[in-house]
Amino acid sequence: MIFDENKGMYFPTEDIVNQANVKEYEKLYKYSIEHREEFWAEQAEYLDWFKKWDKVLDDTDKPFYKWFQGGKINIVHNAIDRHLKTANRNKIAVIWEGENGDVRTFSYHALNREVSKFANVLKSMGVKKGDIVTIYMPQIPEQIFAMLACAKIGAVHSVVYGGFSNEALSERIRDAESRVVVTADGGFRRGKVTDLKGIVNEAVVLCPTVEVVITVKRTGHDVYMENDRDYWYHDLESLPIASPNCETEETDANDMLFLLYTSGSTGKPKGMMHSHGGYSVYTSTTHRMVFDIKPEDRFWCAADPGWITGHSYLLYAPLINGSTIFMYEGAPNHPYPNRWWRMIEKYGINILYTSPTAIRGLMRYGDSWVTRHDLSSLRLLGSVGEPINPEAWRWYYKVVGGEKCPIMDTWWQTETGGFMITPLPIMPLKPGSASKPFFGNEISVVNEQHEEVKAGEEGALVIKNVWPGLASGIYKDPEKFVETYWKKYEKEGWYHPGDSARIDEDGYIWVIGRSDDVIKVSGYRLGTAEIESALVSHPLVVEAGVIPLPHNLKGNAIHAFVILKTGTSPSRELETELKEHVVKMMGPIAKPEEIIFSESLPKTRSGKIMRRVLKARALGQDEGDISTLEE
Ligand code: WTA
Repeated sequence: MIFDENKGMYFPTEDIVNQANVKEYEKLYKYSIEHREEFWAEQAEYLDWFKKWDKVLDDTDKPFYKWFQGGKINIVHNAIDRHLKTANRNKIAVIWEGENGDVRTFSYHALNREVSKFANVLKSMGVKKGDIVTIYMPQIPEQIFAMLACAKIGAVHSVVYGGFSNEALSERIRDAESRVVVTADGGFRRGKVTDLKGIVNEAVVLCPTVEVVITVKRTGHDVYMENDRDYWYHDLESLPIASPNCETEETDANDMLFLLYTSGSTGKPKGMMHSHGGYSVYTSTTHRMVFDIKPEDRFWCAADPGWITGHSYLLYAPLINGSTIFMYEGAPNHPYPNRWWRMIEKYGINILYTSPTAIRGLMRYGDSWVTRHDLSSLRLLGSVGEPINPEAWRWYYKVVGGEKCPIMDTWWQTETGGFMITPLPIMPLKPGSASKPFFGNEISVVNEQHEEVKAGEEGALVIKNVWPGLASGIYKDPEKFVETYWKKYEKEGWYHPGDSARIDEDGYIWVIGRSDDVIKVSGYRLGTAEIESALVSHPLVVEAGVIPLPHNLKGNAIHAFVILKTGTSPSRELETELKEHVVKMMGPIAKPEEIIFSESLPKTRSGKIMRRVLKARALGQDEGDISTLEE
């Protein structure tokens, strides 16, 4: 790339532009806005449909939009089946490396056999179209086989991130009313075995709907298996019923593909629903255009499939586009901080997509861990999950990408299914800006009066249109969907993402962060209310207020203000105990950085904790408008 010092921008070289899948932004953008439905219909033609749609967008039941209404499709038919009829059949679909050094690879042909076997096992356990299967797994191939197997037979997967505690897992299983849970005896992380099966055992006790738990053997450590409930996958897989042939179900474009729980402003996580049609079109189009996917590419999305990034860009989009995906089980610095770079060199990875937290975490070990490896296979880099600070951007660009790889800083959400704001490889880049709206999207920054703010001013990010990747709703809670995303701009019909941002004179969008009660810790999405209820569930805690404060490595860290029961005195031991209590209730990712014992919390007259005031006080900033403060 070419750095222009005056503009502070990085320009793509001719090579990058010449080979790009999309060579021009403005014209296509204009077309995609003026002819949104035609644009998306054209993109949908890249996929194989059992039956074409009757209507591109059905908006009769706003905001429950239906894309490609009347169409019949299955995402697995596009991600696997159709490749079997082409030269992709013998191409590597998945390369997996375990933290302990195990390596497994699967061609599209082999992937189809594994997924079909898994699908037949699920069927033999009575899983039918529309049933929700909960998957709680380490990052091993069977995790994605299980997801694809559900989709193949028209069942719905609900993947719960393996770092969540038994309490958090059981809450999600109960909401989804899963009858079948898929797990493993554990996985390797930082050289240790994670006891996933033990956590499942504790969780399912609280889930009356669960009848079957299927366990994949990964580590071989001892686990408790209950008669008539627990089955080893390798036992089931060896039965005649688990044949490697399985018909792919014809699903409606708007049939649910998966449910993914995400944190919002209330204590209860929301089950975001995505469906086969629009999601396939949106994820594969964004992936093809933004990551400039070529048939020979080896694509590594380093996210866990337990999060939306893993669903969309580790699994579905790259397989639909016929790429070779790479998947790694463990920690980036195990056994040494060159683990990632060694694997990029070893497998010849062309595109790396990861988070600012991971980049900052690896940056602190210094350049030599990276530069001792030949990373010349890399062509493009990506970032997601939180704003990337320019310092980390430059390190990623210079040391990892060798000053030749454009960085695709992609802004999006669990709800949006795929990239909403992103550069393209042909675009000049500004470190720290996610650049421009993706095709079809009109994105603005507005003030409290819903008017567009001036260039450079901060305001609320809004999306003024709908797109095929948009979630179809919140499971069992349509009102919450309306209230959270559509109420605020009801008159305008805009989508409300809950982020604040500014747009500069060149039209580049700079996302600042969440403006609601969601915290991004190391890129993980957590709800303040969830952490507060975890704290309050401790017998000695009366009230709690949780805020994010800036953290060098994690982006944000959790700081909890806690009011103790009368007669209880604060102590170091109690601080540790409360931190551990949150870990027990939610999982290690939610562990507070600091517990501050307080006598009172700033509240509105109606009793709502004013987290904004807590944050301003902690940072020594102006408290802003405190006219509603009760004290
Ligand atoms: C934040 C993750 C700045 C944002 C895909 C959003 C980002 C939330 C970026 C969604 C980015 C994601 N720059 N902020 N490139 N990408 N975010 O649902 O606050 O886990 O609202 O989806 O992450 O988090 P979620």
